[in-house]
Amino acid sequence: MRTKKGIWILLGFLLLIQLIQIDKSNPPVDPAVDFEPVVQPPEDIMVILKSACYDCHSNETRYPWYSNVAPVSWWLKHHINEAREHFDFSSLGQFKGAQLAEILADASEVVESGEMPLNSYTWMHPQARLSAEQRSRLVQWMRESGED
Ligand code: HEC
Repeated sequence: MRTKKGIWILLGFLLLIQLIQIDKSNPPVDPAVDFEPVVQPPEDIMVILKSACYDCHSNETRYPWYSNVAPVSWWLKHHINEAREHFDFSSLGQFKGAQLAEILADASEVVESGEMPLNSYTWMHPQARLSAEQRSRLVQWMRESGED
Protein backbone atom coordinates (compact mmCIF):
# COMPACT_ATOMS: atom_id res chain seq x y z
CA MET A 1 0.00 0.00 0.00
CA ARG A 2 2.73 2.35 0.99
CA THR A 3 4.65 2.08 -2.32
CA LYS A 4 1.45 2.71 -4.24
CA LYS A 5 0.95 5.96 -2.41
CA GLY A 6 4.56 6.89 -3.10
CA ILE A 7 4.03 6.38 -6.83
CA TRP A 8 0.97 8.64 -6.84
CA ILE A 9 2.89 11.33 -5.02
CA LEU A 10 5.73 11.05 -7.51
CA LEU A 11 3.35 11.19 -10.47
CA GLY A 12 1.59 14.20 -9.01
CA PHE A 13 4.91 15.91 -8.51
CA LEU A 14 5.99 15.17 -12.09
CA LEU A 15 2.71 16.55 -13.40
CA LEU A 16 2.97 19.64 -11.27
CA ILE A 17 6.48 20.57 -12.42
CA GLN A 18 5.25 20.53 -16.06
CA LEU A 19 3.68 23.88 -15.24
CA ILE A 20 7.13 25.42 -15.14
CA GLN A 21 8.04 25.65 -18.82
CA ILE A 22 11.28 27.08 -20.18
CA ASP A 23 11.53 30.14 -22.42
CA LYS A 24 12.10 28.80 -25.93
CA SER A 25 12.18 32.10 -27.77
CA ASN A 26 15.51 32.66 -29.50
CA PRO A 27 17.12 36.07 -29.09
CA PRO A 28 17.31 37.88 -32.45
CA VAL A 29 20.30 37.26 -34.73
CA ASP A 30 22.03 40.49 -35.79
CA PRO A 31 23.74 39.96 -39.19
CA ALA A 32 26.25 42.68 -38.33
CA VAL A 33 27.83 40.51 -35.63
CA ASP A 34 26.67 37.04 -36.68
CA PHE A 35 29.47 34.61 -37.44
CA GLU A 36 28.27 33.34 -40.83
CA PRO A 37 27.73 36.62 -42.76
CA VAL A 38 30.76 38.33 -41.19
CA VAL A 39 33.34 35.53 -41.37
CA GLN A 40 31.87 33.72 -44.40
CA PRO A 41 33.29 30.27 -43.66
CA PRO A 42 33.24 27.58 -46.36
CA GLU A 43 29.94 25.73 -46.71
CA ASP A 44 31.14 22.37 -45.38
CA ILE A 45 32.36 24.08 -42.20
CA MET A 46 28.98 25.75 -41.72
CA VAL A 47 27.23 22.39 -42.17
CA ILE A 48 29.33 20.89 -39.37
CA LEU A 49 28.87 23.88 -37.05
CA LYS A 50 25.12 24.08 -37.63
CA SER A 51 24.55 20.40 -36.97
CA ALA A 52 27.00 19.99 -34.09
CA CYS A 53 27.22 23.34 -32.26
CA TYR A 54 24.50 25.83 -33.14
CA ASP A 55 21.74 24.37 -30.95
CA CYS A 56 23.77 25.38 -27.90
CA HIS A 57 26.21 28.05 -29.06
CA SER A 58 23.98 30.41 -31.05
CA ASN A 59 20.64 32.17 -31.02
CA GLU A 60 19.40 29.64 -33.60
CA THR A 61 18.54 26.85 -31.17
CA ARG A 62 16.17 24.17 -32.45
CA TYR A 63 14.38 22.79 -29.41
CA PRO A 64 13.64 19.03 -29.47
CA TRP A 65 10.29 17.59 -28.31
CA TYR A 66 11.67 16.65 -24.91
CA SER A 67 12.39 20.31 -24.27
CA ASN A 68 8.68 20.34 -23.33
CA VAL A 69 9.24 17.86 -20.53
CA ALA A 70 10.42 19.06 -17.12
CA PRO A 71 12.87 18.49 -15.52
CA VAL A 72 14.80 17.59 -18.73
CA SER A 73 13.82 20.98 -20.17
CA TRP A 74 15.38 22.83 -17.22
CA TRP A 75 18.63 20.96 -17.56
CA LEU A 76 18.66 21.64 -21.31
CA LYS A 77 17.98 25.35 -20.90
CA HIS A 78 20.73 25.61 -18.33
CA HIS A 79 23.17 24.04 -20.82
CA ILE A 80 22.15 26.43 -23.57
CA ASN A 81 22.49 29.49 -21.35
CA GLU A 82 25.90 28.38 -20.20
CA ALA A 83 27.03 27.47 -23.71
CA ARG A 84 25.98 30.86 -25.14
CA GLU A 85 27.78 32.61 -22.31
CA HIS A 86 31.06 30.86 -23.08
CA PHE A 87 30.98 30.86 -26.86
CA ASP A 88 28.29 32.34 -29.08
CA PHE A 89 28.33 32.17 -32.86
CA SER A 90 25.58 34.79 -33.04
CA SER A 91 27.93 37.42 -31.63
CA LEU A 92 31.33 36.06 -32.67
CA GLY A 93 31.39 38.40 -35.70
CA GLN A 94 32.05 41.34 -33.38
CA PHE A 95 35.64 40.11 -33.09
CA LYS A 96 38.05 40.72 -35.93
CA GLY A 97 41.50 39.71 -37.14
CA ALA A 98 43.94 38.39 -34.58
CA GLN A 99 41.38 38.44 -31.77
CA LEU A 100 38.94 36.29 -33.73
CA ALA A 101 41.77 33.98 -34.81
CA GLU A 102 42.74 33.47 -31.20
CA ILE A 103 39.17 32.72 -30.09
CA LEU A 104 38.74 30.17 -32.87
CA ALA A 105 42.13 28.59 -32.21
CA ASP A 106 41.23 28.24 -28.52
CA ALA A 107 37.87 26.76 -29.41
CA SER A 108 39.50 24.24 -31.73
CA GLU A 109 41.05 22.63 -28.66
CA VAL A 110 37.78 21.46 -27.16
CA VAL A 111 36.79 20.09 -30.56
CA GLU A 112 40.08 18.27 -30.98
CA SER A 113 39.94 16.80 -27.48
CA GLY A 114 36.43 15.50 -28.19
CA GLU A 115 34.95 17.56 -25.34
CA MET A 116 32.66 19.31 -27.84
CA PRO A 117 30.03 18.62 -29.01
CA LEU A 118 28.90 17.31 -25.60
CA ASN A 119 28.25 13.57 -25.41
CA SER A 120 24.87 14.16 -23.82
CA TYR A 121 23.95 15.99 -27.03
CA THR A 122 25.34 13.57 -29.64
CA TRP A 123 23.56 10.77 -27.82
CA MET A 124 20.20 12.28 -28.85
CA HIS A 125 21.46 13.96 -32.06
CA PRO A 126 23.26 11.39 -34.23
CA GLN A 127 23.77 13.97 -37.00
CA ALA A 128 26.02 15.89 -34.63
CA ARG A 129 28.43 12.99 -34.16
CA LEU A 130 31.60 14.07 -35.93
CA SER A 131 33.61 11.58 -37.93
CA ALA A 132 37.38 11.72 -37.40
CA GLU A 133 37.59 13.40 -40.77
CA GLN A 134 35.00 16.08 -39.96
CA ARG A 135 36.65 16.72 -36.62
CA SER A 136 40.10 17.26 -38.08
CA ARG A 137 38.69 19.37 -40.93
CA LEU A 138 36.93 21.62 -38.42
CA VAL A 139 39.96 21.85 -36.12
CA GLN A 140 42.24 22.70 -39.03
CA TRP A 141 39.88 25.37 -40.35
CA MET A 142 39.48 26.95 -36.92
CA ARG A 143 43.25 27.21 -36.60
CA GLU A 144 43.87 28.62 -40.06
CA SER A 145 40.88 30.87 -40.46
CA GLY A 146 42.40 33.94 -38.89
CA GLU A 147 45.71 33.79 -40.69
CA ASP A 148 44.92 36.04 -43.65
C1 HEC B 1 24.54 20.35 -25.84
C2 HEC B 1 25.07 21.68 -25.95
C3 HEC B 1 26.42 21.90 -26.59
C4 HEC B 1 26.84 21.57 -27.85
C5 HEC B 1 26.06 20.84 -28.94
C6 HEC B 1 28.18 22.10 -27.99
N1 HEC B 1 28.55 22.72 -26.83
FE1 HEC B 1 30.24 23.75 -26.49
N2 HEC B 1 29.70 24.10 -24.54
C7 HEC B 1 28.50 23.71 -23.99
C8 HEC B 1 28.48 24.10 -22.59
C9 HEC B 1 27.35 23.82 -21.62
C10 HEC B 1 29.70 24.76 -22.34
C11 HEC B 1 30.18 25.42 -21.05
C12 HEC B 1 30.54 24.46 -20.01
C13 HEC B 1 31.64 23.55 -20.39
O1 HEC B 1 32.75 24.02 -20.73
O2 HEC B 1 31.42 22.33 -20.37
C14 HEC B 1 30.44 24.74 -23.59
C15 HEC B 1 31.69 25.30 -23.77
C16 HEC B 1 32.30 25.47 -25.00
C17 HEC B 1 33.48 26.27 -25.23
C18 HEC B 1 34.22 27.04 -24.18
C19 HEC B 1 35.21 26.14 -23.52
C20 HEC B 1 35.97 26.85 -22.45
O3 HEC B 1 36.83 26.19 -21.88
O4 HEC B 1 35.69 28.00 -22.18
C21 HEC B 1 33.76 26.18 -26.56
C22 HEC B 1 34.91 26.86 -27.29
C23 HEC B 1 32.77 25.31 -27.17
N3 HEC B 1 31.90 24.87 -26.19
C24 HEC B 1 32.75 24.98 -28.50
C25 HEC B 1 31.82 24.11 -29.07
C26 HEC B 1 31.85 23.72 -30.46
C27 HEC B 1 32.86 24.21 -31.49
C28 HEC B 1 30.81 22.86 -30.65
C29 HEC B 1 30.45 22.10 -31.90
C30 HEC B 1 31.49 21.30 -32.50
C31 HEC B 1 30.10 22.74 -29.37
N4 HEC B 1 30.77 23.50 -28.43
C32 HEC B 1 28.96 22.01 -29.13
C33 HEC B 1 27.47 23.08 -24.63
C34 HEC B 1 27.50 22.61 -25.94
